[in-house]
Amino acid sequence: MSEQKALLLDEVRKYHQDLQVDRPFVPGVTEIWPSGATLDADDRVALVEAALDMRIAAGYSARKFESDFARRLKRRKAHLTNSGSSANLLAVTALTSHLLGEHRLQPGDEVITVAAGFPTTVNPLLQNGLVPVFVDVDLKTYNASPERVASAIGPRTKAIILAHTLGNPYEAREMAELAEAHNLFFIEDNCDAVGSTYEGQITGTFGDMSTVSFYPAHHLTMGEGGCVLTSNLILARIIESLRDWGRDCWCVPGESDTCLKRFKYQMGTLPAGYDHKYIYSHVGYNLKATDLQAALGLSQLAKLDEFTLVRRRNWRRLREALDGVAHLILPEATPRSEPSWFGFVLTVDPDAPFTRLQLVKYLESRKIGTRQLFAGNLTRHPAYVDQNYRVVGDLTNSDIITESSFWVGVYPSLTDEMIDYVADSIKEFVAGQA
Ligand SMILES: Cc1ncc(COP(=O)(O)O)c(C=O)c1O
Repeated sequence: MSEQKALLLDEVRKYHQDLQVDRPFVPGVTEIWPSGATLDADDRVALVEAALDMRIAAGYSARKFESDFARRLKRRKAHLTNSGSSANLLAVTALTSHLLGEHRLQPGDEVITVAAGFPTTVNPLLQNGLVPVFVDVDLKTYNASPERVASAIGPRTKAIILAHTLGNPYEAREMAELAEAHNLFFIEDNCDAVGSTYEGQITGTFGDMSTVSFYPAHHLTMGEGGCVLTSNLILARIIESLRDWGRDCWCVPGESDTCLKRFKYQMGTLPAGYDHKYIYSHVGYNLKATDLQAALGLSQLAKLDEFTLVRRRNWRRLREALDGVAHLILPEATPRSEPSWFGFVLTVDPDAPFTRLQLVKYLESRKIGTRQLFAGNLTRHPAYVDQNYRVVGDLTNSDIITESSFWVGVYPSLTDEMIDYVADSIKEFVAGQA
């Protein structure tokens, strides 16, 4: 590193430290966000360094992030994307590739998922002409059980895509076994659960593919960003092609002829020797991320263990403080799991003498940020009214979530004082409603 650059980065570090004024927590005045990025001097330096180098497209940091993250998540390949939604789009679209031969998904094939979740876990199915089959989730874990998923398998079922809700793993091993027994692809939407484990194994390693989001609310952030991970090298090749305009060539930008056959292919009805760099074998997208994002991702990745510990500690503190409070259904970790929690979800008992709206408004008036469990029952949203989907069983719990659930934050920037204030506020509200 040049002396001038080192001096500049040193100044950036000092600038960051100068910004750190110790603002005391003032209950009812200080905002307690439900989620947010936890950024330190290393993050600021990483971003500025990438900017000083003018690494404005994907380059050194993107490749390093992909290899470090793949190693960290114990998968052979990771492909960085511009969002978690793009990662889901790529993972689902990959299943329709001709490279999968007779196993490729065809329009009209069914994919089992849940109705209570985030829209862009489901949207790629509709965008690919596939049919979502919705099952209900269990209250307390907010996940679908393998039994519910098994009951939805029909002759056209080809895959399962499920998110680990708010960081709480579902029974991922049983789900993978179910998928294998029925010859189904299995995608883990791990966007809200990086660092969680089920039976001691990290989530994102049970499925054929897993996806991650790096939006600021998530466990690691790049501002915007996402990733698809897999150990299946055919799927990895498809994902890369779809992400990078659909091209057949796999040379990284700036490289040429790594296969030593650049001008020796004949594909489609193209003339023999047409430059492989410009041959398209998938109807692709451009969903790449930049080196600025990846540089931030690398400095965030170094803190994953620490973030995971704080998320767990904050969740446990809230859980213990709220234990036994009347009229609230409290969350529970799936047996044999250790979640890295995304948030702390509460459901107001349908028989309670107050509504979710009243409780949420009370908390918001105290500057305690709340969020819904994303879409609640997705099928009740205007965008899905005329879509082609199937529901198996009823969606009773998804409806309860829609009417009565919300979540508050546990992210690493929240202090014990803040967590205690959240718990005390909930208890005070409930006590006043007898
Ligand atoms: C479960 C789940 N999947 C996918 C996404 C989409 O991620 P992104 O916002 O990066 O597109 C989110 C976003 O919060 C999510 O919670």
